[in-house]
Amino acid sequence: MKISVAIDGPAAAGKSTVAKRVASILGFIYIDTGAMYRAFTYYVLKKGVDPQNEAASCALIPEVFIELLPGGKVLCNDEDVTDVIRETRISSNVSYIASYKAIRLHLVDLQREMAEKGSVVMDGRDIGTYVLPNAEVKIFQIASVETRAVRRYEENIQKGIKCELKEIEEDLRRRDYIDSHREFAPLKAAADSVLIDTSFMSVEEVVNTILSIIKRKTGVGEVK
Ligand code: DC
Repeated sequence: MKISVAIDGPAAAGKSTVAKRVASILGFIYIDTGAMYRAFTYYVLKKGVDPQNEAASCALIPEVFIELLPGGKVLCNDEDVTDVIRETRISSNVSYIASYKAIRLHLVDLQREMAEKGSVVMDGRDIGTYVLPNAEVKIFQIASVETRAVRRYEENIQKGIKCELKEIEEDLRRRDYIDSHREFAPLKAAADSVLIDTSFMSVEEVVNTILSIIKRKTGVGEVK
């Protein structure tokens, strides 16, 4: 039986951490769709194109080839961009790129192709509403903007990326706004999704909650 688990929610709500764990526990493929928008943004900046220029950014679609490798590596035209796509210059421009319909349609095609290959846990903003509307399990994961800012700050510091907490919080608010107000496939909870507020939950608790929802809805997996 092929199962799709969609995990959506705002930036830095801890989606990728729990999605990765859930996928590895169940032996499902993990697909980080945000990494694809980030890799595209990387290429736009590399080409010296202004990410706020929709026509010029979309014109690059035919020359961008993005791959997500099983171990978590992200390739953009065979270049390993796994770490560089987490830098602030990418984070602060990716919402523009993700708001362009042509780019979304292109990346959504790739995402659906990947989901065809087997059971997946896919995280993003529009997975339950647009990319995989028939997903067996849909989670909408949220956390307060303050909690999310602290989490992203600590993550960056651990990776040696220089940053300011206040700037991260402002950037998250700005991205939340752009992501949820764009015209095409905005960030929105699917009507049939389960809402999880992770503000006061540990990663372990969120993972176990999602595993029990999957077990209840599909019968797959073990719950502690
Ligand atoms: O999850 P993330 O922070 O890596 O996502 C990067 C950006 O990509 C974010 O600003 C929203 C956008 N995105 C999107 O619009 N749709 C998705 N399915 C995934 C990410």
